[in-house]
Amino acid sequence: MTTLPLVELHLHLEGTLEPDFIMRTAAKNGVSLPWESVEDLRSRYEFTDLQSFLDLYYTNLEVLREREDFRDMTDAYLRRAQQAGVRHAEVSVDVQVHTARGIPVEVVLGGIRDALDESEARYGISTVLLVAFVRNHPPEEAQELLDHLLRTGARIDGIGLDSTEVGYPPRLFAGVYETARRAGLRLVAHAGEEGPPEYVVEALDLLHVERVDHGNRSLEDDALVDRMVRERIPLTVCPLSNVRLRVVDRMALHPLPGMLARGLRVSVHSDDPAYFGGYIDANVDSIREELALTDDQLETLARNAVDSAFITDDRRRVLHAEIDEWAAQRGGPQSAN
Ligand code: ADE
Ligand code: ZN
Repeated sequence: MTTLPLVELHLHLEGTLEPDFIMRTAAKNGVSLPWESVEDLRSRYEFTDLQSFLDLYYTNLEVLREREDFRDMTDAYLRRAQQAGVRHAEVSVDVQVHTARGIPVEVVLGGIRDALDESEARYGISTVLLVAFVRNHPPEEAQELLDHLLRTGARIDGIGLDSTEVGYPPRLFAGVYETARRAGLRLVAHAGEEGPPEYVVEALDLLHVERVDHGNRSLEDDALVDRMVRERIPLTVCPLSNVRLRVVDRMALHPLPGMLARGLRVSVHSDDPAYFGGYIDANVDSIREELALTDDQLETLARNAVDSAFITDDRRRVLHAEIDEWAAQRGGPQSAN
């Protein structure tokens, strides 16, 4: 049986730093961390909300210093993603967090590109690179970074918006997104993870995003859900993340089946896999088991991801054909997509 071909659309590269990589890189670069060992670090992976996770995530990414560190982080992710059955990955990086520590943009993006440029040949995974702006930093800083990226011809495909959500509404970044849109960049933003449905509306109306990352709290607003169904707005849902960050109480209560039933264009992704108990394959396994999703529903999720990706029509056809093959092998009906 071939494995289901997967498309990763919601992945923070810094969220792929595994404890052994963190401790090894800290030692290499002479960075002192507050953890004594891999086991000590691992024992801290208990989160009460988004902020409790972000505090740990930002502490650990301090180990990244050199171009090769960013390359190695990205390559390790791609290697793991290949095992999971990933065929296309759209990855994001919090550039501002690194520049604030004195690491030049070119070191961050150069190292990541070193790995991404090898990805098709090495792993058969096509890639897209998104720079996520940190919403709890001033919008002026985001604008300055974007202007720099555009001026220097940085090889990025789009922008996102992440980090602490509540208190930092999308409207603060309308100008930044306008600049990015005019420059032809693709647009996504986290909204409705912890923030209210109004933040999702703002992301759509003021940032003109093409995809919403998470978007769980959209479900509190029926008119918004109807609109997202009508406009086919993709939602990149991250089930293991939602459980670990207490967006949902437990997997069995995850709203994904209801989202599918309402006709939302949802797909399943991993967010910060090193922190939340697994990569995209673990997310798929978990929803399959705990939400009793059928193969038809898994196929719909996989096709939604392909349709929501920032890829050429040719690549989209190839990926749908791979899903056709998977569906044919399991002997089930195929979607019309
Ligand atoms: N940065 C990394 N993971 C994130 C998440 N789940 N939400 C917001 N910002 C993030
Ligand atoms: Zn995220």
